[in-house]
Amino acid sequence: MAQDTPEREWWKEAVVYQIYPRSFNDADGDGVGDIPGVIEKVEYLDELGVDVVWLCPVYDSPNADNGYDIRDYRAIMDEMGTMDDWERLLEEVHSRDMRLIMDMVLNHTSDEHEWFLKSKERDSEYSDYYYWRDGEHGGNPNNWTSIFGGDAWKYDEVREQYYLHIFDEKQPDLNWRNEDVRQDVYEMLDWWLRKGIDGFRLDVINLISKTEGLPDGEPNPGWTGWEHVINGPRVHEYIREMYDEVLSNYDIMTVAEMPGCGVADAQQYCGEDGDGLNMIVHFEHADIPYAPGGKWDLDDVDIHPADLPEVAEPDDHFNHWDLNELRDVLTRWQVGLEGEGWNANYLGNHDHPRTVSRFGDDGEYREKSAKMLATLQFTLKGTPFIYQGEEIGMTNVEWNDFDELRDVEAIQQSEELMERHGVNFEAIRHVVKHRSRDNARTPMQWSDADNAGFTDGDPWIKVNPNHESINVAEAREAEDSIWAYYQDLIDLREAEDTLVYGEYHLLYEDHPDIYAYVRADDDDRILVVLNCFGADMTFHLPDHLDGSDAELLLTNNEDPDSVSTDLDELDLPPYEARVYRL
Ligand code: GLC
Repeated sequence: MAQDTPEREWWKEAVVYQIYPRSFNDADGDGVGDIPGVIEKVEYLDELGVDVVWLCPVYDSPNADNGYDIRDYRAIMDEMGTMDDWERLLEEVHSRDMRLIMDMVLNHTSDEHEWFLKSKERDSEYSDYYYWRDGEHGGNPNNWTSIFGGDAWKYDEVREQYYLHIFDEKQPDLNWRNEDVRQDVYEMLDWWLRKGIDGFRLDVINLISKTEGLPDGEPNPGWTGWEHVINGPRVHEYIREMYDEVLSNYDIMTVAEMPGCGVADAQQYCGEDGDGLNMIVHFEHADIPYAPGGKWDLDDVDIHPADLPEVAEPDDHFNHWDLNELRDVLTRWQVGLEGEGWNANYLGNHDHPRTVSRFGDDGEYREKSAKMLATLQFTLKGTPFIYQGEEIGMTNVEWNDFDELRDVEAIQQSEELMERHGVNFEAIRHVVKHRSRDNARTPMQWSDADNAGFTDGDPWIKVNPNHESINVAEAREAEDSIWAYYQDLIDLREAEDTLVYGEYHLLYEDHPDIYAYVRADDDDRILVVLNCFGADMTFHLPDHLDGSDAELLLTNNEDPDSVSTDLDELDLPPYEARVYRL
């Protein structure tokens, strides 16, 4: 198991906390979270022990997609506060030895961005900043659809042409083939970096190069045209150029969000001789257990939305996932990036349902399974990402009425589902409960007070009623809370270099319930054993490993002192997590 000493980097050792500011903390009582609200909680983040704060978009935006539609890259959205507030946040974060990375959306802008307004007027400088095309046979220029549902083209009356929008119609795609676009983007990135930020999370950055000629795509129930959009022909050239011209001049962290990115692509994007990015947020595990057409493609989940009310246990149905599938994906990435890149370890974020509802048991074993999943995230090789609320085990929520939905994707996809199957919202409610991004966007549950202590006003999105029992105040009082366990995990990872830099070696390749692996370097071996489901299991240490001096480092067992170190035969209660030094 010997290996070369890996190159040490601060961003490999860091623990990241992702903030979706709209739903984090509202300081001015307008029902929308804001930057002063984040400032009030910096101390909280410091106490939890995180090193890096990733702030989802706070730029000026008409909010068609909650800030992922930027109107002005150099201004702060009114609802979020002012640039002075933002400067104060940066100071507060830095004064506690933490770092701040900004979410940056470069595949598209808002249709209210100055570039787009000028482009549609055919202003000579900006005319070619977006993908404008004439219609074909009186219809769209090609058959591509939008990730959010519907067509990917919108006709503009002013310019009398169609423009491409892979996301919402208010998010036109930038034409990266145009060198002026790229130079404007790089200048803007440099402007932010000069303010002293510590890096970027780059939104859907592998979508910036489209196949020349924009040909029709293979019809796909989820997203037609994807093969002409993701990992396109010039994407490496653009990213490398962005790195050479801007990113390489700073000691920063770059986290690239890349749907449809596989391990081989990742080696190129972030490997040693690659494009210069640090790590990839890929979707291969996040898309389990979805059908090939994505999370809104229900065709191969046995049940038809119209039948849902008759399904006895829709929760079980939707939450069902296969450990072999998850382990295969994670192992492929762990092994594939060994010495060739770095992993970003996440299970949930603002685009997915809540982690504990999806991969754990948000009923009887909510606390236990949330801790088990956190153990996985913190002991795999890579940088762990905590999404706000995960540290207290926040869950999905019941969506009782279509009008409760806020997310552009949930709204459009629900409308399409209802129309396609001729049903009302009641019939697809369960789909929304398990698939909607709104699940992750309900307000952070600070206390059992009204609106979970998130706002004194009217919250912009429904608050999960379970805040009465699931909240930060409560979690911080209980010694054995999920919150306290996260602190322990953070401390453990900080203390054990092997958990940061050691190689990953899988044990038990196909056990249906137990996920076990060793993290190893020249000096140390750390064993991780996870019982991923709700039945009792027994683990046996494989013969090639010596467990005679095993020392327990961490467990989510309710009675840690009673936990055995006999690794030849280890009883594992439901959702048990154990970390041992061998
Ligand atoms: C990314 C963001 C998501 C957004 C989309 C379009 O996937 O994480 O929230 O809707 O890009 O910008």
